[in-house]
Amino acid sequence: MPLDLPPDEAATLRRGEGPAVQIDLIQTMIFHAAVAALRLGVFSALERGPRELGALAGELAVDEANLRALLRLLVTGGYLAEGEDGYERTPAGAWLAGPDDGFGAVLDFWHSLIGGLWQGLEETVRTGKPQRDFYAWLQERPDVLTGFQGVQLRIAEWLEEEVLELAGPPGEPARLLDLGGGHARYSLAYCRRHLGLSATVLDLPEALEPGRAAVEDAGLAERFTFLPGDLRTAEAPGGQDVVLLFNVLHGFPADTARALVGRAAGALRPGGRLIVMETLPDPVGSVREEAFTRGFDLNLIHTQGGRLHPVETIAGWMEAAGCGSVERRDLTRSAAFCLLVADREG
Ligand SMILES: C[S@@+](CC[C@H](N)C(=O)[O-])C[C@H]1O[C@@H](n2cnc3c(N)ncnc32)[C@H](O)[C@@H]1O
Repeated sequence: MPLDLPPDEAATLRRGEGPAVQIDLIQTMIFHAAVAALRLGVFSALERGPRELGALAGELAVDEANLRALLRLLVTGGYLAEGEDGYERTPAGAWLAGPDDGFGAVLDFWHSLIGGLWQGLEETVRTGKPQRDFYAWLQERPDVLTGFQGVQLRIAEWLEEEVLELAGPPGEPARLLDLGGGHARYSLAYCRRHLGLSATVLDLPEALEPGRAAVEDAGLAERFTFLPGDLRTAEAPGGQDVVLLFNVLHGFPADTARALVGRAAGALRPGGRLIVMETLPDPVGSVREEAFTRGFDLNLIHTQGGRLHPVETIAGWMEAAGCGSVERRDLTRSAAFCLLVADREG
């Protein structure tokens, strides 16, 4: 939450009469404090009503004096308020509960990512080469991997209905291939809508576990095949009616992303449909969305050698791979994402 600076104090910083970047430093401290409070259970305790400091410290079994320092920073940061009955959540703080709930899960994951992998950013910019390997790093941290998968799943739950409306398959499909489909939420949605459809999900071995569990829970295991492997090299089954490439291309540099589009198109039968979902490099939304997208792009560049590829570039790769007349379909639920849909010529 932005510090609630009085207008005259903000104006002096805008005029360069003080170090405006100190506000970002303070926001970084507040970000760390908010995540610590999430992990300690501060927000979920206050969800049940205001608490005096001593009662809250007792309930959370934490050091009272240190909790006070944490809470005071969060009051300044706009997440908590101190009233007659003790500490309580502000409307901004009401977005946070536990590290596994709602936006708290998103915050918890990004905290681990930025705290763990953003060191050495200047080297990535200097050398043009990523300094980190996001997926290798995740593999060594099962809790963060679970958090990452949880964030992807939440986004899919939010978008899937509109995705199906905007990008249906051609006719009544029998075979769908979900490249980098991990949690399998999108494949499941297509399979629920098209009863004759079977799906193959190809992803890294550890990424397939949530998908397997979800498909079992849905009672659709017999219609699913899970293929552990590397997208760049694994043998993918051909003759597909639909291939999904959802939120995958941004994890790779342009030459690899282009090759992946070629592999995806190559797995289609003639007349089969390639559907790509990607984050737009320049979403037409709020300042918040634009700023987050720019940070996300830098994160991709630094942690995995990827980037947000322009939509026109991806459409060009699809056409070059034999999928003509690419149609762009924008999601209304989020200005950050768009779909590209094209059928394989043949
Ligand atoms: C951002 S997630 C998108 C997941 C899902 N398609 C969605 O849209 O919600 C990227 C997915 O690509 C997978 N992935 C990344 N690199 C991969 C590789 N080299 N081989 C196979 N899968 C990979 C990840 O494990 C992850 O499941």
